[in-house]
Amino acid sequence: MKIMITGADGFAASRIIRAWQDRHEITGTTRSLLDFTDRDGTGRKIRELSPELVIHCGAVSDLAVCDREPESSRKVNVEGAENVAAACRESGSRMVLFSTDQVYFGGGVQGPHHEEEPLSPRRLYGKQKREAEERCRKVLPDVVILRMSWMFDYDKNRPGEHDTLVTSVRQALREGSRMQYPVYDFRSITYVGEMIRHLEKAIHLPGGIYNFGSPNEKSTYEVAEELLRLLGYGAELLVPNREAFADKPRDLRLSQDKLLSFGIRFGNTQEGLEACLLHENISKSNLYADFC
Ligand SMILES: NC(=O)c1ccc[n+]([C@@H]2O[C@H](COP(=O)([O-])OP(=O)(O)OC[C@H]3O[C@@H](n4cnc5c(N)ncnc54)[C@H](OP(=O)(O)O)[C@@H]3O)[C@@H](O)[C@H]2O)c1
Repeated sequence: MKIMITGADGFAASRIIRAWQDRHEITGTTRSLLDFTDRDGTGRKIRELSPELVIHCGAVSDLAVCDREPESSRKVNVEGAENVAAACRESGSRMVLFSTDQVYFGGGVQGPHHEEEPLSPRRLYGKQKREAEERCRKVLPDVVILRMSWMFDYDKNRPGEHDTLVTSVRQALREGSRMQYPVYDFRSITYVGEMIRHLEKAIHLPGGIYNFGSPNEKSTYEVAEELLRLLGYGAELLVPNREAFADKPRDLRLSQDKLLSFGIRFGNTQEGLEACLLHENISKSNLYADFC
């Protein structure tokens, strides 16, 4: 398939490109190749490449940056996504939009969350992503919107890349420093390798919104504890954070019901952690090489 992926330097897109480069004809666009906040430039680039599919991964994905820079982040997260949708409509390209579980944070509905429930996201990032979903659907009704959960991988692809649960825990182990994870936080946490495996099927889904992550019943603290166990460590360095979300637990867990009805099944977070470590061939012996 001829595919264009935005945000090509980012966490998700760089891994999708690496995994699919031999199977598909892929063009990854970094900011220097295409700034998708430029509406005309986006139209030109998508016309020029005429991809069958555009996967829109580019975003300002850091919640704190969105809060600090509300206007510029809105330009990227909302207007940028809409520009891509408009260009896809013009070129007859299919579009997959990466959205987020953060649209469910603040809605007051307990998880696991369903795609059709009412939303009132609390954080600006969640608000922007929800608006992007709405605008893209208006412009391009058959857009496939995937609400991603917090993803992890064993390593970083490049030095400036943001941390994930696994890279943060490994870094803390290397430094022998304490790590804090919240006990009142419940969310789907997903191995990026598994996300990419299911994405191959998801790009053919009918237009609509789909949760796209692993089921998980454990708190983020318990997931970190499990990760340490799998890495062969005790929980001595792990400190429970009982302050975050103490007034009301955060529940971002994603229901898998809709995806299952299309034959896509994510393993749970624990299985994802195991798959990630297995993929990296982690055994006690190379753990010592890694950390000691
Ligand atoms: N990673 C997760 O755990 C997670 C969870 C839920 C949802 N998501 C969603 O999944 C998608 C991918 O996330 P990610 O973690 O891969 O994000 P990421 O690592 O932050 O990558 C985003 C990429 O978008 C690029 N970008 C930003 N503004 C741009 C612009 N105007 N023109 C061109 N490129 C621009 C960034 O380039 P610069 O570095 O040059 O700014 C960066 O390479 C995002 O939509 C995110 O909201 C991710």
